Amino acid sequence: MSLEVSQKITIEKSKISKIGQVDFNNLPFGQVYSDHMLVCDYENGKWQAPKIIPYQNISLDPSAKIFHYGQSIFEGMKAYKDESDAIWLFRPRDNQKRLNISAKRLAMPELPESYFMDGLEALLLLEKDWIPTTKDSSLYIRPFIFATGNGFHASPADKYKFIIACSPSGPYFGGKLKVLIEQQYSRSANGGVGFAKAGGNYAGQFYPTNLAIEKGYQQVIWTDDTSHEFIEEAGAMNIFIRIDDTLITAPTSDRILDGITRKSIIEIARDQGIAVEIRNISVHEIVEASENGSLKEMFGAGTAAVISPIAGFGYKEKDFMLPELESPIALKLKKQITDIQYNRADDKFGWRHAVK
Ligand code: PLP
Ligand code: COI
Repeated sequence: MSLEVSQKITIEKSKISKIGQVDFNNLPFGQVYSDHMLVCDYENGKWQAPKIIPYQNISLDPSAKIFHYGQSIFEGMKAYKDESDAIWLFRPRDNQKRLNISAKRLAMPELPESYFMDGLEALLLLEKDWIPTTKDSSLYIRPFIFATGNGFHASPADKYKFIIACSPSGPYFGGKLKVLIEQQYSRSANGGVGFAKAGGNYAGQFYPTNLAIEKGYQQVIWTDDTSHEFIEEAGAMNIFIRIDDTLITAPTSDRILDGITRKSIIEIARDQGIAVEIRNISVHEIVEASENGSLKEMFGAGTAAVISPIAGFGYKEKDFMLPELESPIALKLKKQITDIQYNRADDKFGWRHAVK
């Protein structure tokens, strides 16, 4: 059945829901998908009418340019449900803007804000029962665009698909992380695509990350590609370092993703009177701080990872462990940001977005 809900979005409902098969008390991250997805095609130089359809496979020509030239970008967001079953998003327009920043860099068509926001809200209203209410869970939302236009000519495609898929998810990481400060491989370079959420940025990380995992670490901390001296970010998170009572995070650049969690944490921390420095921080400074006892905390920040404390880091074949603190700033900031996200606290910054 196809039902017209607005001038733009049509909804084809799935005949049978999969929701009964889901154990909402034991949700992995990003492995279970909701009943529907939003799909919108770009053809003849414009975005066509968006559709919500049952979650399903996609059929593509083997010469589709996504397979050969990697034109693929994505976003990561979450929908939260509060105690009265109201649905909330966190700074969703920032994801929409960033998707278009990525699109521009990869020579892909930008998506109008209304296609993103209206499509997202219509999908969430349909999938509201899929938003978990169990602790630390949420509906992870994956908006993405990829090249469906075909041809082996190495040039931008003429056709694309925008999809929003949803996955009820638990935490991304199981506990504190042990990270390896990378000294050989690079995630990004000046003038490159590091600031974009391009699929290829992640593919390039898997091999060095596997090497780190073999050595007993869970994540790589990327350093600048020229000297490997300065901390940049992790695979799916921006990084904060606490020396004494000051939080330090690298400035965003061509090489670093402008994380929405990162910029929110900076604002929340400063609002609490916590000193935050946005500046380059060298591995040398961190090692020295670890040795003299002034290195108090390190944590990653991202939508999927929320705030993930780091237990210790490896650097040049040596491990440096962080102290176990009674009341880490990371935990305090995690509570503050999640209280806003789940509508448990006042939203003094105006970041919450109601879906209704
Ligand atoms: N850095 C990278 C490489 C990421 O993939 C992510 C995740 O989205 C982040 C940082 C954090 O960004 P955000 O807080 O917007 O999710
Ligand atoms: C997110 O935090 O939403 C991300 O996009 C990270 C992802 C690679 C899991």
